[in-house]
Amino acid sequence: MESAKEKWVNVMPRIGEPAPSFKAVTTQGEIDFPKQYAGKWVILFSHPADFTPVCTSEFMTFATMAPQFAEANCELVGLSVDGLYSHIAWLRTIKEKIEYRGMKNVEVKFPLIEDIKMDVSSLYGMIQPGESSTKAVRAVFYIDPKGIIRTIMYYPLSTGRNFDELYRTLIALQTADAFSVATPADWRPGDEVIVPTAGSCGVAKKRMSTKGIKCYDWFFCTKKLSKEKIFSTILKKKKKK
Ligand code: BEZ
Repeated sequence: MESAKEKWVNVMPRIGEPAPSFKAVTTQGEIDFPKQYAGKWVILFSHPADFTPVCTSEFMTFATMAPQFAEANCELVGLSVDGLYSHIAWLRTIKEKIEYRGMKNVEVKFPLIEDIKMDVSSLYGMIQPGESSTKAVRAVFYIDPKGIIRTIMYYPLSTGRNFDELYRTLIALQTADAFSVATPADWRPGDEVIVPTAGSCGVAKKRMSTKGIKCYDWFFCTKKLSKEKIFSTILKKKKKK
């Protein structure tokens, strides 16, 4: 018979569903997730362990890029199954001692959840026993301003994440929402975007002859969308002094 905890370990959140809620202790005090992030995007990510090299390289990069994510109305929340004092000591070591790829004196200002009992990591399918039953895998959850999970990424313990891709995915999601479009393979802001497939033959024909829309076939049409238009729409406006 499966124990309650074993059952829980098998729970996997899904795209399009509300982010499971929890309260937890973090390096920045208690958080009520995702409630306190309502109205903002939030990326909840896990790392396997404090005081390990891949995680250190990732944390330094997350912290360095945090202002760039914040400008796109997106907060960061980290998690590992380590305790609070370990988190505090590790983040202090990063700030005081580690210089890596031009990053130094890096202060991690976003919350890092302590999850010794694996409550939150189990709830989010971050404990994947085939990879490790004592550490969380490298999970990334994108949660939108309404608290809905919009993208999930899982990486194994050995592979550090690609931060260009993490940021690109956020901008692609926000672009899809703001302009009712989709983004093709390897899309980057400024590349053509995909206009939704036409519902009927007549609409498709009309669309194929619409100026500014390029159709490869009736089901595959693109249009230009400038980088400037995207960023002026989705980035938080900086206050003029
Ligand atoms: C790392 O971050 O370097 C790491 C953590 C756990 C297992 C393997 C590597």
